[in-house]
Amino acid sequence: MTLAADIDCKQIREALGARSVVLVGLMGAGKSSIGRRLGQRLGLPFVDADTEIEKAAGMTIPEIFEKHGEPYFRSGEVRVVARLLDAGAQVLATGGGAYMNEETRARIRAQGVSVWLKADLDVLLKRVRRRADRPLLKADDPAEVLRRLMDQRYPVYAEADLTVVSREASHEDIVDDVITAIAGHVVPAKDLPAS
Ligand code: S3P
Repeated sequence: MTLAADIDCKQIREALGARSVVLVGLMGAGKSSIGRRLGQRLGLPFVDADTEIEKAAGMTIPEIFEKHGEPYFRSGEVRVVARLLDAGAQVLATGGGAYMNEETRARIRAQGVSVWLKADLDVLLKRVRRRADRPLLKADDPAEVLRRLMDQRYPVYAEADLTVVSREASHEDIVDDVITAIAGHVVPAKDLPAS
């Protein structure tokens, strides 16, 4: 197998062209923390769709849900992700629900390489407990909510171009796995370093 350390990130950038690397997956999968480090390694800007939605709305996500409801948030999410994809190559972390929208999936297919950061319930739960700003998890039983979302969303996330398991390892190890997966997808095999 090709090792991430041997991969020339310039080759990946060239192969991506104007396409972005788009991270999808459930809350707690590590899309933002992995995305930020991935951007640094690849030499691409990192953009977090949730942060951009908050900037555009002038409100936090909990405030948007509270004042306007989830459908309003979702339509803003569709518009913001479309705008970000049009901005050219970047590492884009999407909110957990973004990829569930058909229109957004089609745009990501056309303008990006999608990576599903797939994690077990235990891993997700441990990570989401660190923050209290996710409206969907303000429930009596967040584990139950996550389990339901896994059932609904995992078959759709599986449409992503690549799947990388977001396990309990260092961020750098997961970033290595993502880089290896992207290189295998976008760089012709003959141009990859031999192992
Ligand atoms: C959501 C995930 C959140 C945020 C919003 C809704 C979801 O983003 O967009 O709270 O539907 O899964 P993260 O996945 O970055 O936590």
